Amino acid sequence: MKAICMETEVPNDELIVSHTNLYGIITYANDTFADISGYEIDELIGKPHNIVRHPDMPASLFTNLWETLKEGKIWSGYVKNLRSDGGYYWVYAQVSHLIDKNNNLIGYKSLRAPVDIAKRHELEISYARLKEMEENLVKMSEWIDKATYQRITTLSQNENRSVSDIISDLIGTP
Ligand SMILES: Cc1cc2nc3c(=O)[nH]c(=O)nc-3n(C[C@H](O)[C@H](O)[C@H](O)COP(=O)(O)O)c2cc1C
Repeated sequence: MKAICMETEVPNDELIVSHTNLYGIITYANDTFADISGYEIDELIGKPHNIVRHPDMPASLFTNLWETLKEGKIWSGYVKNLRSDGGYYWVYAQVSHLIDKNNNLIGYKSLRAPVDIAKRHELEISYARLKEMEENLVKMSEWIDKATYQRITTLSQNENRSVSDIISDLIGTP
């Protein structure tokens, strides 16, 4: 029987690879991605990539991922992913563009590497803080619009500063 909520170690000598179409639907998965996520390759193909989304992941990271790709830039970041058995694995992912021979954008690809244990502990704490901030911002949503909310969370993540720091800077201290 498989244990629930157990962490799976990502091997150092193998790359987890996936491709998606323009809408984040998986079009290719390598054997390592299938092994680590606990799915068969044909269970992954045709599914949205959020099939491996872990509930601990702050939403603003994915907003930032899609905004970065749409600006034509490569995104990289740390991601905690959900396995099919409820366990999880950490990766450092690089997501970039898939271009056909006529130079048309046809989708995206991601390559992932392992994350060392100290970094994983640090990320558990910083992502939990970021998620809490996002939840607080959702509560503030009656008086803050969505675009401002996204700008604040992106700034907070990019500059590794708390939301209160950013707001204090904007309004000044008394
Ligand atoms: C090439 C590519 C790879 C992705 N890899 C992952 C991944 O490993 N884990 C993940 O949670 N989301 C990944 N995403 C982002 C998902 O498409 C999605 O935005 C995210 O899971 C949040 O889903 P949700 O907004 O529906 O909750 C990837 C997107 C692309 C384009």
